[in-house]
Amino acid sequence: METDIARILFTQDQIRRRVRELAREIAAAYANSGAGLTIMPILSGSLIFLADLIRELPIKMKIGLVQISTYPARTTTPMPPRTLLPPVGDIRGRDVLVVDDILDSGRTLRHVLGLIRAQQPATIRTAVLLRKPVRVPADLPVEYVGFDVEDSFVVGYGLDYDDYYRNFPHIGVLAPERMT
Ligand code: IMP
Ligand code: MG
Repeated sequence: METDIARILFTQDQIRRRVRELAREIAAAYANSGAGLTIMPILSGSLIFLADLIRELPIKMKIGLVQISTYPARTTTPMPPRTLLPPVGDIRGRDVLVVDDILDSGRTLRHVLGLIRAQQPATIRTAVLLRKPVRVPADLPVEYVGFDVEDSFVVGYGLDYDDYYRNFPHIGVLAPERMT
């Protein structure tokens, strides 16, 4: 697996420290939430970030999984994503924090935010571990960002290529010859 990674961008230790900082910020923001917090991770990319983040958040919360299946790695024709949300009513009037692994074109997040907004939560914010600033549209602000990254294909710490490399503990650039 390691030989498929061209370059490490963030080590396990750097990620751990940054996730802890983000958690402190998020905990402070929701400390006095009267509505109650629901964390909504977008699967599967966010699962390791989620697991580390929520264990650093000493606040009462619910978890509402969002499952979205986009086109497989080798498909070039864009297809609309299929999305599964928690049952309608679960998040009405609550504070929602959407958690995703990486913000690239913003297409996924925009789609998910629209579906969540329709369920009328009290507030919606977003936390992403990674953001590719050159790709993100200006009208899609996110409240919490772990790291800004260059516009390369990155894997590890939950991020995949064709569902591989999610268990790589660091975040690195995938060797271009592995993307076939
Ligand atoms: P977007 O809809 O273009 O913002 O892409 C968001 C989704 O695409 C993320 O949740 C990831 O699953 C995937 N993605 C985008 N860029 C990368 C990358 O560099 N590595 C791994 N997955 C990525
Ligand atoms: Mg993903």
